[in-house]
Amino acid sequence: MNHKLDIDALVDAKHGRVTPLIYTDPDIYQLELERVFGRCWLFLAHESQIPKPGDFFNTYMGEDPIVVVRQKDGSVKAFLNQCRHRAMRVSYADSGNTRAFTCPYHGWSYGVDGQLIEVPLEPRAYPQGLCKEKWGLQEVTRVASYKGLIFGNWDASAPSLEEYMGDMAWYLDGVLDRREGGTEIIGGVHKWVIECNWKFPAEQFASDQYHALFSHASAVQVLGVKPEDVNKPLGSGQTPRPVWETAKDALQYGQDGHGSGFFFTENPDANVWVDGEVSQYFRDTYAEAEQRLGKVRALRLAGHNNMFPNLSWLNGTATLRVWHPRGPNQVEIWAFCIADKNAPDEVKAAFERSATRAFGPAGFLEQDDSENWVEVQKVLRGQRARTSPLCLEMGLGQERLRDDGIPGTTNYIFSETGARGMYRRWADLLISDSWEEVLARTAKFQQELLK
Ligand code: FES
Ligand code: FE
Repeated sequence: MNHKLDIDALVDAKHGRVTPLIYTDPDIYQLELERVFGRCWLFLAHESQIPKPGDFFNTYMGEDPIVVVRQKDGSVKAFLNQCRHRAMRVSYADSGNTRAFTCPYHGWSYGVDGQLIEVPLEPRAYPQGLCKEKWGLQEVTRVASYKGLIFGNWDASAPSLEEYMGDMAWYLDGVLDRREGGTEIIGGVHKWVIECNWKFPAEQFASDQYHALFSHASAVQVLGVKPEDVNKPLGSGQTPRPVWETAKDALQYGQDGHGSGFFFTENPDANVWVDGEVSQYFRDTYAEAEQRLGKVRALRLAGHNNMFPNLSWLNGTATLRVWHPRGPNQVEIWAFCIADKNAPDEVKAAFERSATRAFGPAGFLEQDDSENWVEVQKVLRGQRARTSPLCLEMGLGQERLRDDGIPGTTNYIFSETGARGMYRRWADLLISDSWEEVLARTAKFQQELLK
């Protein structure tokens, strides 16, 4: 397959067309493991999950198992969780604290710095000698942190983490930097598998506020009912005007593959699906957030985000998730609950409850979304279905730079600027041999958008 020609034809971001083979083709999937997950900055863990030397957390970069571990000097390293003898995992627990990783197969043992330190029966089994220095765990080439989030990258030639994030950092700060002390992960990680390509959820978090009106209509209808109308038949109470009619402005951001979107609000009010303690906490801490972030971001307690390729979060709801690819037709979802470190314990518990209720594996909003992604993937089993182009034209040609300090390429919230940018970056990575080429292609695409 000539990927250069085919992928350009499958993703026509300029005219808003995408051919769904990109969600089903096994060759394309292998290429994206190599060229997207092998070259981009991927979220590994939160600093708060591994505070002490020897603390480790197991995760993935694409399909590769990775163990992230705090070193004796306080730095963080990440390793391919694969024994160099016969490829077994050397670390099995989800997380913990250790002095060494001992392989359960034949017992080779590695230090937390990845060095091979112990080989059972070494003098008898390797009378010719074994150069242990050569057989340490493979270290992830680059590890960097941004305000508590630890990322890894296999590619020495990739841009720095901050360059890679670009203006997306401004949007991410709305969650990470509301209060002195930063954030932490509350509780464990919810992990579950659904049958769809990883790009469906990533795209939705980058770009799709539109689905909420329809897919989440029943939940919003129930949650929007005022206490005095609770016993009346649905629809008989006064229906509040929808946010897209009342908000004074709204935007979608889409650049460098990343995407975000939200409505501007006048009050620091959280979503209707979070507990009262959470809403009260946002009101109580608004002054500090406004002083740190300015009005727009301090008031932003809703909306969607995806940092390319597969890290998503929702403001105000405390959910942070990673879409781990598991073949073209499957994704493993990992959902973390992230909250301000200095929030009181009862507020942290309320954050966790709220995030789980709405966006846990059985969350009432998560279910609406999963149903769509899984059904779409089933439709794409059809030969005709997976080769018929899909319309990605919403808000095409309406992109603009704002003059109010909000950075990056933006559009109206109901648009697909985030999705077009995500697929363009994805295609550019697949067809380019170097990061230099990827960045040049992105720059050209951006320039044409804003002409
Ligand atoms: Fe690890 Fe043999 S596979 S010691
Ligand atoms: Fe949704």
